Amino acid sequence: MLCLGIEGTAEKLGVGIVSEKGEILANEGKPMPLKEGIHPREAAQHHAQNIKPLIERALAKAGVGMEEVDLIAFSRGPGLGPCLRVIAVAARTLALRYKIPVLGVNHCVAHIEIGRLTTGAEDPLTVYASGGNTQVTAFAAKRYRVFGETLDIALGNCIDQFARELKLGAPGGPIVERLAKGGSYVELPYVVKGMDLSYSGLLTAAIKKAKSASIADVCFSLQETAFAMLVEVAERALAHTEKEEVLIAGGVTVNARLQEMLRSMCAEHGAAFYAPPGEVLGDNGAMIAWLGVLSYSSGVRQRLEETQVIQRWRTDEVEVLWR
Ligand code: ATP
Ligand code: FE2
Repeated sequence: MLCLGIEGTAEKLGVGIVSEKGEILANEGKPMPLKEGIHPREAAQHHAQNIKPLIERALAKAGVGMEEVDLIAFSRGPGLGPCLRVIAVAARTLALRYKIPVLGVNHCVAHIEIGRLTTGAEDPLTVYASGGNTQVTAFAAKRYRVFGETLDIALGNCIDQFARELKLGAPGGPIVERLAKGGSYVELPYVVKGMDLSYSGLLTAAIKKAKSASIADVCFSLQETAFAMLVEVAERALAHTEKEEVLIAGGVTVNARLQEMLRSMCAEHGAAFYAPPGEVLGDNGAMIAWLGVLSYSSGVRQRLEETQVIQRWRTDEVEVLWR
């Protein structure tokens, strides 16, 4: 069985083709060039303009024709409404045209599953940090339970907004990572509430701090503070759940400093640390295709009219039938 998966929850459009054995035959992506924040309607237009050539590119890369594809999967949420609707329409159209089933799947769960597939982690605590999400999850009683999460903005959004405010460029993550090199620590608010995180106060404080401290120092301190908060929550979740593996997911976890902090926390707890390859850490089509395979194989079916997008769709609302 071959599944073609379409990702497009935010500014990045992705198409992946994955077999039922988990071979990734293609994973093509097309991000929208960002000058500022993501404008939902402009991103939707970008997806509409690029979806057809990107599907063709993925098929060519995989060396298969559309007739050989058995299943279409798409990111049904969470994400930006206009973007989700474009990829949903594309997915349904392909399903109708080629008379194959279509499944709308959860974007956050897809991040976790592609990580398990590509690293071999079996039952990890997952630290998922991206532009739109920041969650620490672990599998329990048929669901990926959320042990800690942001109460306001996501970690990636915090860094991106900081960079935008200071006109450093977009997306902010890699830029701040580069600028942080050689910086030293200046104090910024560290906010962990119970098992949850809050990044909005840190963002405001970092922007303010940049008026008096050097950019390198603020970038360094923003990373140290924001990452330490996430690692603290992950550490407590690890102790509580007694999992023996930690997996990372989401574009922010590409960051070398964050990986280093998590790696040393894992070493202290005797847990194995798993970092998937960069091309599946951020948003990508292969993760959607793979979750399509897992869902379909475990009996999930959706009639066309049951494939509406779900803009707010929590990770722990999905019943994990394949485990
Ligand atoms: P989601 O829909 O899951 O919220 P997303 O649309 O934010 O995902 P991702 O590719 O998972 O897409 O993540 C993008 C985020 O990752 C951006 O906020 C970007 O700044 C951040 N990022 C990318 N590289 C780095 C890096 N080296 N260090 C820190 N953050 C990074
Ligand atoms: Fe994502």
